[in-house]
Amino acid sequence: MEVVHTIPDLRAAVARARQAGKAIGFVPTMGCLHEGHLSLIRRAKEEAAFVVVSIFVNPTQFGPNEDLSKYPRTFEDDRRGCEAAGASLIFAPAAADFYPPGASTWVDVEGVSAKLCGEFRPGHFRGVATVVAMLFNAAQADLAVFGRKDLQQLAVIRRMVRDLHIPVRIIAHETIREPNGVAMSSRNRYLSAEQMTQATAIPAAMTAAKALAQAGVTDAARLRDAAQAVLAAQPALKPQYCEIVDLETMAPVASTARVRCAIAIACHLGATRLIDNADL
Ligand code: PAF
Repeated sequence: MEVVHTIPDLRAAVARARQAGKAIGFVPTMGCLHEGHLSLIRRAKEEAAFVVVSIFVNPTQFGPNEDLSKYPRTFEDDRRGCEAAGASLIFAPAAADFYPPGASTWVDVEGVSAKLCGEFRPGHFRGVATVVAMLFNAAQADLAVFGRKDLQQLAVIRRMVRDLHIPVRIIAHETIREPNGVAMSSRNRYLSAEQMTQATAIPAAMTAAKALAQAGVTDAARLRDAAQAVLAAQPALKPQYCEIVDLETMAPVASTARVRCAIAIACHLGATRLIDNADL
């Protein structure tokens, strides 16, 4: 497995793989890889013979109150994980090289970015869409794999790819969960054992809404209330949102009868912000 730091080196390696008849898969990450990321890499490897993993802590998706400098950097562990999961190449650019000096071009995916996390993290999805467009342009992969756990990010990327005619197939991969049902996240490392137990109220809340939906309830307020009641029973959790949304537009819906929907939840648990979702 190669490690490259520049776009010309990345493109040369991708061109060689393509010449050898290999399809190119891509998994963008910010490092601090856990089993969820590794399953994305394994999925990409099922779909493409040459898999590029980017490791880049993207400064433009952090808000002024979100500490970019404290984001965990674990490159050696990440490198070992990528290799074991079947990655062919890591692209790890330096922020100063990847964003040209004075870079002033943004990709703003309006609407899809507006609600949910977009409301609480202004500018976040603009940073994500911009860096993912840059990474797609750098890697020129045939397909890219994203986790369903970041549901709104996935919807933003899908819309961007559609609107800008970016020739990459987006594959959504299932959320990988801890044995207790909590979605895997780089942020779980900040949770104490007690908080890890408290966090199980989030998947429990989604299960409550899902059970109602499976019983035929389509009224979004009822589904949301059922989930909120479970969250409220765990006082350590401070919900930021708990919404029933249209899977494509991320807009809250009044009824799940006619569109494909999901329940999306964000909560603070101590200083850690957790998000999760489930299809209904
Ligand atoms: O999901 C992430 O880790 C990041 O948002 C991404 C897609 C790598 C862009 O920086």
